[in-house]
Amino acid sequence: MEMNPSGDRDPVPRLVPVHGIQGRAVLSRRRCPLKTPLSFLSLVAPVVLAGCTVASAEDPAPGTTAGRCMTCHREEHPGLYRQWYDSEHGKHGVTCIDCHGAERGDKDAFEHEGAWVATLVTPADCGACHEDEAAQVQASHHATAGQILESQDAYMAHAVGGHPAAVAGCESCHGGKVTLDDTAPNRLSAVSWPNSGIGRINPDASLGSCTACHARHAFSVAQARSPESCGKCHLGPDHPQEEIYEESKHGNAFFSNRAASNLDADRWIVGMDYAGAPTCATCHLSATIAQPVTHDVGQRLSWTLRPAVSKHQEDWKAKRTRMQKVCAACHGPTFIEGFYAQFDGVVNLYDRKFALPAGEIMALVRERGLLEHPAEFSNDIEWIYWELWHHEGRRARHGAAMAGPDYTWWHGIYDVAHNFYFEFLPAARELGDPAVNAKIDALLADDPMHSWFGRDTATIKADIRSGKLQRIYGDMFQP
Ligand code: HEC
Ligand code: HEC
Ligand code: HEC
Ligand code: HEC
Ligand code: HEC
Ligand code: HEC
Ligand code: HEC
Ligand code: HEC
Repeated sequence: MEMNPSGDRDPVPRLVPVHGIQGRAVLSRRRCPLKTPLSFLSLVAPVVLAGCTVASAEDPAPGTTAGRCMTCHREEHPGLYRQWYDSEHGKHGVTCIDCHGAERGDKDAFEHEGAWVATLVTPADCGACHEDEAAQVQASHHATAGQILESQDAYMAHAVGGHPAAVAGCESCHGGKVTLDDTAPNRLSAVSWPNSGIGRINPDASLGSCTACHARHAFSVAQARSPESCGKCHLGPDHPQEEIYEESKHGNAFFSNRAASNLDADRWIVGMDYAGAPTCATCHLSATIAQPVTHDVGQRLSWTLRPAVSKHQEDWKAKRTRMQKVCAACHGPTFIEGFYAQFDGVVNLYDRKFALPAGEIMALVRERGLLEHPAEFSNDIEWIYWELWHHEGRRARHGAAMAGPDYTWWHGIYDVAHNFYFEFLPAARELGDPAVNAKIDALLADDPMHSWFGRDTATIKADIRSGKLQRIYGDMFQP
């Protein structure tokens, strides 16, 4: 938050209603004891504070229950205390008990120094004061990320790996189910906590963890706006968004202009409050002149590139338009349209040339009962196919989505093609089945995208020079 020299908040009026502070708790067990300075309230009107007592921002008296939390924890956990004290919550008198206070009957409530408290502070609890943000998070794909137990990935983690890896790996990003300790029922079980996964399943039935992006106890917007905060999860061989961003012109420009990016500002509208470069938040969450902040990160996506074959999102045209409005803060319309044509081109290339035929061959292999071992992932070809789409094919598409050419080609389509021609097809042929072999032979002979395989280099080069080979892909540059 911007402070002016007198210590008040930056009096720049907001153009968009970014905050949804309300006093009504829906799912929450917390009361709303907002102690908010009036100078602040005058800035964020129209704000509803139903049922809240507006008092001063000073720390509660040390002798009160709320005051004792801070007095003691300042000694016990000075680092934690300091993070809270310097935070916007500390400055606005939102104290330990405002977040950790619980009702006696809550599953995870325990009596502590004369008060009922809970360690977990769930999105429902934050939502007592930040209703809009909490509702948007609950509606997003992030909220359901913890429901992965039925997925092929989870089967793999549990069968091939083992439970401890699923807990400290998958669930640390996706979120696990937080359960109580059988031996001390109001304490959290060590196998399920700590966990700050994006789709954590909480005992109060709310989903997610706001600390996934706003680390405690600073709960800062500057941190959430920084690409590193998404990078805990959005990286690696199957979704290298952070690495792609770092190699893109956008990442380049951001890391060179970080100091001028105004990350701490209260209002953060692209093109008005900063202009050097977009971060992940800029494109996926933050405000533009015409759009408010959204905590539903799917609102601006036209594709889902996660499945083996890409799919359009529901209502994808409107979602694409929302993203294009972000780009429009810094780029002109022909540039934006050109970018999307090139992006769609890579998505269609991957889908049509590699993903669809590989999927059909794999289905035929299964249908004809050619796999040696019965369990999924107990045969080499299943791993080869998995890496083709889940790792390499995603990398290529993500590279094109976010202007990272090295991921589009060297870590992307190059790897897909190498796998397809020299690992996947040979592994399928090795099964020695006439129907599978006939399918592969037909693909390589008749599909114009694959028929280069049996020709001589000189005629292929002549087709590249004349543009004939490029024309095969001519209809791909559209959604
Ligand atoms: C006299 C000192 C003292 C006071 C007062 C106090 N705490 Fe604590 N608190 C501790 C200590 C020590 C621990 C760690 C050991 C334990 O769990 O009892 C702790 C643990 C906690 C935990 C974490 C428990 C866990 O799961 O690890 C929370 C949350 C907490 N306190 C919140 C509060 C709140 C809210 C208040 C005010 C109502 C408060 N504390 C008052 C000393 C204190
Ligand atoms: C704005 C809400 C908020 C405030 C204010 C707040 N906390 Fe927390 N606290 C959290 C959240 C969120 C977590 C993580 C729990 C979760 O993931 O559900 C947490 C976790 C904790 C933990 C356990 C985690 C750990 O790292 O050991 C302790 C102890 C704790 N808080 C103490 C305090 C104390 C003491 C204060 C006051 C100085 C305080 N909290 C103020 C939201 C808050
Ligand atoms: C008792 C009401 C209350 C609760 C509960 C509460 N907050 Fe806040 N929060 C505030 C107030 C007041 C501010 C400061 C004014 C503002 O910036 O909106 C604030 C500010 C923030 C900010 C902006 C910080 C910045 O750097 O500008 C974030 C992010 C935030 N809260 C997240 C959370 C999260 C996450 C939780 C739950 C763990 C939570 N809050 C719980 C009242 C609350
Ligand atoms: C480093 C963090 C991280 C780890 C570890 C991780 N994932 Fe993911 N996972 C993600 C992210 C981020 C996405 C979304 C990628 C995207 O949208 O491109 C994702 C996507 C998925 C999807 C696709 C969801 C959909 O809607 O199609 C499934 C299923 C999945 N992961 C399951 C797992 C399982 C099971 C494990 C453990 C074997 C695991 N993940 C490990 C971060 C992680
Ligand atoms: C995926 C990451 C992410 C998660 C999860 C997340 N936030 Fe945020 N949050 C952000 C970003 C980024 C901003 C800054 C938006 C901007 O540019 O102003 C923000 C801003 C805020 C603000 C400041 C007001 C505003 O809109 O600018 C509040 C309050 C807030 N978040 C509350 C929450 C609460 C409550 C939760 C959990 C229900 C939560 N956030 C979960 C990323 C996240
Ligand atoms: C704690 C891990 C984690 C963090 C931090 C995180 N994400 Fe995610 N994100 C995920 C997972 C897991 C998924 C896949 C959810 C699924 O498909 O079930 C996902 C999905 C997404 C999607 C696809 C949504 C859709 O509707 O298809 C976008 C976009 C996204 N995240 C952006 C972000 C941005 C931007 C940030 C940082 C501001 C961020 N995420 C922070 C784990 C995380
Ligand atoms: C310049 C804007 C921009 C920036 C910066 C940006 N993205 Fe994206 N992102 C996009 C676009 C455009 C798409 C594809 C949208 C579509 O499907 O129409 C996308 C797609 C995604 C997806 C969906 C992938 C899938 O599998 O469907 C995720 C997840 C994501 N981005 C995360 C991130 C993360 C994390 C960062 C930062 C490290 C980031 N993005 C930076 C514009 C951006
Ligand atoms: C905050 C301003 C800003 C926003 C918003 C923004 N960009 Fe950019 N973009 C830049 C800058 C700066 C460059 C580098 C310009 C140069 O090459 O001189 C750039 C470069 C690019 C490039 C050229 C990449 C290359 O390697 O030459 C593409 C493509 C691009 N942006 C697409 C997009 C798309 C698509 C969006 C929206 C999803 C977007 N940008 C949003 C600032 C922005």
